[in-house]
Amino acid sequence: MTVIEHVDMGAPASFVWDYDARRPRLNKLYEKSKTSQWNATTDIDWSIDIDPGHISEELLARFAAADFDFESTAVGAFAAASDENRWLVEAHSHGWTVSQFMHGEQGALVATAKICAGVESIDDKYYAAAQVADEARHVEAYQRYLEEKVQLSYPIATYLHQLLDDIIAHRHIDMTFLGMQILVEGVALAAFSMGGVMFGNDVIGRITELVRRDEARHVAFGVLSLQGFYDDMDPVDLAEREDFILEACAVMRDRFIPVDVYERLGLDVAKATKEYDQGPDTAALRSMMFSKVVPNLGKLGLLTPRVREGFEKMGILRFERYVDSATEAGELEPGEGANNPNDPFAALRAGLATVEKIAPGPVLQVLTSFIDQGRVADLQPAAVRLNVTGVDEGDWVLRVGPGGVQYALTTADDRPDVTLTMDVSTWTDIIAGRVTAPAAVMDGRIDLEGDVMKALSLEALL
Ligand SMILES: [Fe+2]
Ligand SMILES: [Fe+2]
Repeated sequence: MTVIEHVDMGAPASFVWDYDARRPRLNKLYEKSKTSQWNATTDIDWSIDIDPGHISEELLARFAAADFDFESTAVGAFAAASDENRWLVEAHSHGWTVSQFMHGEQGALVATAKICAGVESIDDKYYAAAQVADEARHVEAYQRYLEEKVQLSYPIATYLHQLLDDIIAHRHIDMTFLGMQILVEGVALAAFSMGGVMFGNDVIGRITELVRRDEARHVAFGVLSLQGFYDDMDPVDLAEREDFILEACAVMRDRFIPVDVYERLGLDVAKATKEYDQGPDTAALRSMMFSKVVPNLGKLGLLTPRVREGFEKMGILRFERYVDSATEAGELEPGEGANNPNDPFAALRAGLATVEKIAPGPVLQVLTSFIDQGRVADLQPAAVRLNVTGVDEGDWVLRVGPGGVQYALTTADDRPDVTLTMDVSTWTDIIAGRVTAPAAVMDGRIDLEGDVMKALSLEALL
């Protein structure tokens, strides 16, 4: 790969000579952005020593619990051969993942600079400029981490490279916006919320947490700025957006496999790739990556019949009920903007807009009454204990699986796979659509004990 790559950005820059046509919501976000700046040099403790080959206890526990033979896989056999090999697998996987985040951040830096030049309102330009500074800081932080702490890095993965090129080169600026702010950043934001390798040690954990807060604003910017843009779009133009969404989502879901790591370690690439595809967590993790993208597209009116059909095949349409990023960031009121009028869940949410406390019992009754039984049919059976504190009858066990969903008050005999504990205000915020469950876990509002992957089966309900 050449060191410098040139891409034609394909769209004209625009000056805005009308300073009076304002977008107050974007201005509010811009104000927030100015007071949320951080400094990668001083806000991260670079003196901490890290071991890039360290495996977290959480990951070990997950593999120990999983019902599959890791040592028979290409990666597992290599890792099992010696401690040094095991270290190499971990360190290289870590270096590869963080490298892809760094390259993606540079993509965001360039895309946002293009957006700043091309957008046609002064408030969009102000906000985009602030985001350019954020993205520069993100590249800087990951780059310094890789150079000083991991001392290993990887070139950009082929498919990420292609996707960034397509996003930057598009002649319609809304496609650059859609590709970067809604699709790529939406996936990155969901990936951060899932933790894993991005929180493997205190330095990368701190960087990721700082970046995540910025990204939440960036995705909100995409939603706020593009809202209404697609409402009356010509069908031919709209079809172009639909193609782009479906292709980009398929690439992000299926193609991000650390093939370069397999090559560098001398593994059987075809075997390792196939095993990664069929890994015990792969399907669940892949679909969770779209927990932000889908509701955000819904907010923009882009869950058209064609996109819905494609998403249903990918198994990600269920996220349409998740909270969109602009609402989650407090920039839009719950229920504001495009929603599916036929969705009973949206109706439940609307009814709870001003409610501060609701007990689990009645909510579970409503949720299970309209659950799509076909959707739970392929789920792994799971018993999830939901313990909501600060309210009577707050402690329930939900059994999810091919037979549907059952729930009952917790008894002393229950042996749940995972327990979620939260106070009643957190529970109510999730049900009313003021926050998503993964974000509440990240913010420490939900205490999670047991098999984390089993907790994901609750998605079928929400
Ligand atoms: Fe970023
Ligand atoms: Fe960003």
